[in-house]
Amino acid sequence: VSLQALNTLRLPARAAWFVRVTDVTSLQAALDWADERKLSVLVLGGGSNVILAGDFDGLVIRVGITGRCWSAVSGDMAVLEVGAGENWHETVMYTVKSGYRGLENLALIPGTVGAAPIQNIGAYGVELSATLLDVEAWDRDTGEVRRLMAEDCEFGYRDSVFKRHPERFVILRIRLQLSRTAPLNLGYRDLQEYFADEDIENLTAEDVAQAVIRVRCRKLPDPDFLPNVGSFFKNPVVGMEQYDALKTRFPELVAYVGESSAKLAAGWLIDACGWKGYRESHVGVHNRQALVLVHHGDGQGAELLSLAARIRDDVQARFGVTLEVEPRIFPLALREEFRFS
Ligand code: FAD
Ligand code: EPU
Repeated sequence: VSLQALNTLRLPARAAWFVRVTDVTSLQAALDWADERKLSVLVLGGGSNVILAGDFDGLVIRVGITGRCWSAVSGDMAVLEVGAGENWHETVMYTVKSGYRGLENLALIPGTVGAAPIQNIGAYGVELSATLLDVEAWDRDTGEVRRLMAEDCEFGYRDSVFKRHPERFVILRIRLQLSRTAPLNLGYRDLQEYFADEDIENLTAEDVAQAVIRVRCRKLPDPDFLPNVGSFFKNPVVGMEQYDALKTRFPELVAYVGESSAKLAAGWLIDACGWKGYRESHVGVHNRQALVLVHHGDGQGAELLSLAARIRDDVQARFGVTLEVEPRIFPLALREEFRFS
């Protein structure tokens, strides 16, 4: 089965086996079938955070569990349960149009609801973990459905228990705790600039979602026109000593500075090495956001990974900072060949 149309980088890749499941019974049957044949399994949502750089010699499972359901509506608060196969952005727009706050800064992130907890999706100053109540997942270690509370998910920056144990859990549903009156998050620089001339007292969650959509469209390429996976690397987190030393040498350095560590803007580091807008035949670096690598068509996974490895090595040599790839790379052999851990 060709996976090329099932991921936003549109690299050529095939899966030996493919199945779409719509409930836990069909999921269990698919997993048993793969186990009997000792096949590895790859769970796929919208394919916007995977690099399918070559053929996958196992079973690809697409989770198509749908449905949205409100519960525990009390006062300003409500809980929304959503199936893993639902589209994330449509879910965000559904909540803001229903008058609930919490997801508006996460508008226009591609992909499915089931993938959102994997890397604790985040944007414009908000992460999923702020509203996530719990996750219902199939636990392949114990062979049962489990409910993991938010605190069991070990959420961090682009990190979770699911990302660290990729073979273990298949997410079936999530529950979100939303509120009609929670404060809006307008602290991110782009949003401050966007609303600079507006009376922010009267803004709705839908206004914020629309602002986020506009800001994102200015910077990030639409994968339907220019295939990509969003940020290719994570923003590296360094200790204060290293940050101070870098800032002294490179006063222009952009970072989000915390109390004991600083998150460096990887886009700035890559840009400063001169990669922004670079192109070599089929692959390149986006001309408005150096953190986004793009596939111009007819390329191979190895070409993109080779470019990414050179960018990583360049940033390491110039700044002494190691860039880590954000999406997951398949197959494993290529991940190892280009030394992406
Ligand atoms: P996939 O790519 O299909 O899968 C991603 C990972 O999750 C894989 O390891 C897969 O095995 C696993 N997975 C998927 N579904 C399940 C499931 N049901 N159970 C268990 N494991 C599962 N991310 C951000 O955090 N912030 C952003 O601002 C952002 N912007 C982006 C902009 C663009 C243009 C693009 C292309 C991507 C962006 N991303 C961003 C990355 C991506 O959209 C998110 O990581 C998204 O959650 C991936 O969803 P998906 O359904 O496409 O996942
Ligand atoms: N910058 C440059 N040159 C560039 C790109 C960025 O100098 O080519 C500098 C700019 O100064 C800019 C700063 O870096 O102000 C930060 O850039 P941006 O606001 O675009 O955010 P980012 O740190 O590059 C992160 C997330 C995005 C998320 C945005 C908004 C990571 C790895 N990426 O990008 O998430 O949408 O913030 O919150 O944390 C994703 O994960 O796929 C993704 C797109």
